[in-house]
Amino acid sequence: MYSVGTLSPFASPTVKLQHLFEFSGIEVFAKLDLLQLSGSTKERTAHSLIESLLNSGMLAPGGMIVESTSGNLGMALARQSAVRGLRFVAVVDENANRSALEIMSAYGAVIEVVSTPADGNKLAARRQRVQQLLSDNPGAVTTNQYGSPANPGAHFTSTMPEFMEAVNGDLDMLFVATSTTGTLVGCQQYLHRHHQETKLVAVDAVGSVLFDGESGLRRFPGLGAGIVPELALQADPDVVCRIEEIEMVRGCRKLAAREGILAGASTGAIVAAIEEQTPHLKAGSRIGFLVHDSGVPYLNTVYNDQWVRENLGTALEPGVALEDNNVT
Ligand SMILES: Cc1ncc(COP(=O)(O)O)c(C=O)c1O
Repeated sequence: MYSVGTLSPFASPTVKLQHLFEFSGIEVFAKLDLLQLSGSTKERTAHSLIESLLNSGMLAPGGMIVESTSGNLGMALARQSAVRGLRFVAVVDENANRSALEIMSAYGAVIEVVSTPADGNKLAARRQRVQQLLSDNPGAVTTNQYGSPANPGAHFTSTMPEFMEAVNGDLDMLFVATSTTGTLVGCQQYLHRHHQETKLVAVDAVGSVLFDGESGLRRFPGLGAGIVPELALQADPDVVCRIEEIEMVRGCRKLAAREGILAGASTGAIVAAIEEQTPHLKAGSRIGFLVHDSGVPYLNTVYNDQWVRENLGTALEPGVALEDNNVT
């Protein structure tokens, strides 16, 4: 498959939201990266990571990629590998999201499930398996989303130029959810390079260690980090918002009910962060955010009242939607 016409294969629509927030006088723009072919912004990241490996000669045509991932990057790497005739091995642990694994398999990825070691350190076990696969398969490479400059490079060269063109280069504040911080750093590099005064807001989870956060339980994938990745050393946002999981759920449900956009937890966190920040904004401000991924993989968690009640402790009247009960 290759792209035809003038639009890049990653070009996603940017929409102006009209019902999400009650406050008036502020314009809100959302870039719909949930429409990427693998369902998230990581489609751009996977493309850029693989291109850089091919261009540097580290990855040969028809070669093998090994990565420890069970989420959005895994689905995107699986799709990009299928398109390019590369082999992709996803090293996952026993907690991996079943639907993500099914999607990777559908694209032809090989899934290696690593059992939990006696000391419980799943991350260390996955890393060890990646190293073993690399040494067993000469020529195989790993994409290193946590440190590769090609990760922010994806957003410097595609996400931001598209977004700024859609809003006529006029944006007062940009909200970006953070995990590897690749998206944030790429946006930051673009704003600096183009001397834009847009304030950059990092949206992180309570329980994430990014930006001096305290480590704690995080139930939703895609947002926050348990260890500080190499790329995060470059991250320099103007504001950091740290969001509780129940607020992510409320943000997601509000976006679905009021704008018809079914998004994942990190985008719900952004909606909550915008609500925190708007009292500080002057009338006429223009703000933007990325809809990082689709809500479909979150139907059994974020959008399931019983799951929310049991896991986040929010008492709901029977038959009352969380949106009606808690959101004003
Ligand atoms: C669901 C989700 N949230 C947040 C992000 C931002 O992640 P990162 O900081 O790794 O770029 C992504 C990136 O694609 C994502 O898919």
